[in-house]
Amino acid sequence: MEELLTNSIQNDLIHLEKQYSLDVLDDWVTTAGLIESALSMTASAVPGSNPHIFVHVSEAHEFREIDREGLSSIPDDSLFTACLTMQSAGSLIDDVFSDYNLNDSMLHDLLRETYNAQFVIPIVHRFSLLAFILISVPELSGEQHSFMNDLTARLKINLYAASIADNRQRELIELSEYPEALHRYENLGELIKHLLDDVAKKLSFDYGIYYHYDEYLDLLIPDVWITGGVKPDPLSTGKGISGLTLERKRASYIPDREKHPSYSFMAEEKFIQGSFISVPVQTDKRVLGVITLCRESGKKGIFGVEHRYMLEILTAFLATEMNSRLLYAELEESYFSTVSSLTRALEAKDHYTRGHSERVMKYAVGIAQALNLSYDSIRRIRYAAILHDIGKIGISDSIITKTSSLTDAEYKEIKKHTEIGYDIVNDSGFFSEIRDLIRYHHEKIDGTGYYEKRPGDYPWEAMIISLADIYDALASDRPYRKAYTHEEALVSLEKLVGINFDQKIFNAFKDWMICETGLKSQSAV
Ligand SMILES: [Fe+2]
Ligand SMILES: [Fe+2]
Repeated sequence: MEELLTNSIQNDLIHLEKQYSLDVLDDWVTTAGLIESALSMTASAVPGSNPHIFVHVSEAHEFREIDREGLSSIPDDSLFTACLTMQSAGSLIDDVFSDYNLNDSMLHDLLRETYNAQFVIPIVHRFSLLAFILISVPELSGEQHSFMNDLTARLKINLYAASIADNRQRELIELSEYPEALHRYENLGELIKHLLDDVAKKLSFDYGIYYHYDEYLDLLIPDVWITGGVKPDPLSTGKGISGLTLERKRASYIPDREKHPSYSFMAEEKFIQGSFISVPVQTDKRVLGVITLCRESGKKGIFGVEHRYMLEILTAFLATEMNSRLLYAELEESYFSTVSSLTRALEAKDHYTRGHSERVMKYAVGIAQALNLSYDSIRRIRYAAILHDIGKIGISDSIITKTSSLTDAEYKEIKKHTEIGYDIVNDSGFFSEIRDLIRYHHEKIDGTGYYEKRPGDYPWEAMIISLADIYDALASDRPYRKAYTHEEALVSLEKLVGINFDQKIFNAFKDWMICETGLKSQSAV
């Protein structure tokens, strides 16, 4: 009796030890680690089994061995894997093929010859095949059967959990690339324009809106929206879902707006229906805006709290990027207004040239836009245009303001303004990129300009400044003549194509001018 009891306790202990040995599987939170562990357990429990585990990789729609690139994969819509889903236990591979009348000889050869597999054990969870184990022995002993049963029972749970962890890791990797993706936009306007498209790649939503916060007006102003044709209105603090988010300075997540005691009665933002998430785009110093997204229902399902966390992370990245761009833009604007006031002071001496540089800037930027130049190029042209005659600061006032014809000596003197301008503009950082545009704004493509340079020897953008400069001279009053009309100035300007600048620059200016002044007929030119 005592001996029986001892035996029974020993059996229980052996069973428990086997169970606990499987607990190692719980140590893994990724599929790859879990599979490695299961493979080594199978190899030691079933000697000579040479096990292989094929795992379902949902994004690739196939079963394959994890971390063993280059070996075969099996499509997840194959009949073989469909048949395995219906198996509750392991079977001989040959039996699966004959029982279900499978004709896939390539797959049969792959499993039986390449992998030398004889037995297959499916791992099925909630009617879907998560993985299957191939082993090279034709049958299992009773003990091995029971071990494999225990192993697959544990694996199905752990694989399911690991797949969730894998998805989270993939999401994290994708999220970590988001700040870099935001950098690709040249300016804040571009970034905002694509904001909802970018967010949609991480979080699918039905309707969404981004408002920027106007501190002066104390209003949320719609910037980009997908609202099913509804034009959104600006919102005051505390009004509507987004206004409340602004007021509270924290995110809100509601699974069903229509059932919510307060949101369902709100008159604002009716286009936000179903589940929604609303998040402030803010830094620790200021609120920049609010982003609100909703899923009406249907096939996208409702938003969960995990989507709220995701949107909060995205907006944190966004806020950092927007804030640094805003600070840079503010700094640049204040710098630009200092530079502009310098040229205004210079031009104030002579009423014939008053406002000249600002107008040249307007025309030059117009040409650059018509040529579809990049934001950075337009920025360079804008600065170069406003500063193009800054060198006149070093020329005597008597020459600058002289209303009668210049002598040869005076003309020689005034020509120095390009070199003086070049020297004034600092050769470090940003200004080194524009100093050549200032130096060569009197070059001609026929090689008869101030420095007698030929195209290719000076930056081509200098032609833009040159054309804008000449046009403004033609369209302004001079001591010896009245200003030309737009049409007359354009006719004179066209005569300089091939001499001062090329046809492309002239066409761009003409296109821009037609839009700008509403000149309807090109025959006027
Ligand atoms: Fe000039
Ligand atoms: Fe000028």
